[in-house]
Amino acid sequence: MNVNEIDAASVRRDDAAPVIAPLFLSRWSPRAMARKPLSTSELNTLIEAARWAPSCFNAQPWRFACSVSGTPGFDELSTTLVAGNQAWASGAGALIGVVSRTRYERNDNPAATHSFDAGAAWMSLALQAQHMGLVAHGMQGFDVRAARQVLHVPDVYDLPAIVAVGHPWEVDALPEAYREKEVPSQRKPLKDILFIDNFKDLKA
Ligand SMILES: Cc1cc2nc3c(=O)[nH]c(=O)nc-3n(C[C@H](O)[C@H](O)[C@H](O)COP(=O)(O)O)c2cc1C
Repeated sequence: MNVNEIDAASVRRDDAAPVIAPLFLSRWSPRAMARKPLSTSELNTLIEAARWAPSCFNAQPWRFACSVSGTPGFDELSTTLVAGNQAWASGAGALIGVVSRTRYERNDNPAATHSFDAGAAWMSLALQAQHMGLVAHGMQGFDVRAARQVLHVPDVYDLPAIVAVGHPWEVDALPEAYREKEVPSQRKPLKDILFIDNFKDLKA
């Protein structure tokens, strides 16, 4: 089965839950990707979506280092991934290093919300990928020091994640250990995350 035949929205739909825009339920993080390079146009569109994320003072701390499959840059960045990610991310059409400026450009003060802002931008990218029939899978499993070197990330930027983006592909093409994991995940119930007024009932 190709991952684009897996209907994440229907797997996740809970009739008792409030109705939300379908894109939120249909986005998920497959690993099966078709080893087809992303085009410049596809990359531009993904980053254009990220560009419109909100940020504190509109500082826009996010930057994206995009390496397309089949290039030396992609191969070099791939070597920084943990083995468990290399096993499937080789199918990605691009690896995108998400970096976030930890200090404001205008005054060099610490930017308290830079990671919150970069997180919003990555989610925009992921939803845009879903909208385009692509898949996006965030990864924290990589050697940060090595990846910073490969990408020439300046000290003032954090590198919280590398995102594998690609064209959806056959689940059976994945290494065996990953095939049964290739299902949309569920979430905590609303009652565990929604609190009225304060958090006094929040379990530690
Ligand atoms: C910042 C971040 C880092 C992640 N790191 C990894 C990773 O290293 N390897 C992996 O297979 N999945 C990784 N994931 C994917 C998560 O496991 C996945 O998003 C989560 O289980 C929810 O599933 P869904 O995205 O399919 O809804 C990461 C996701 C995010 C947002």
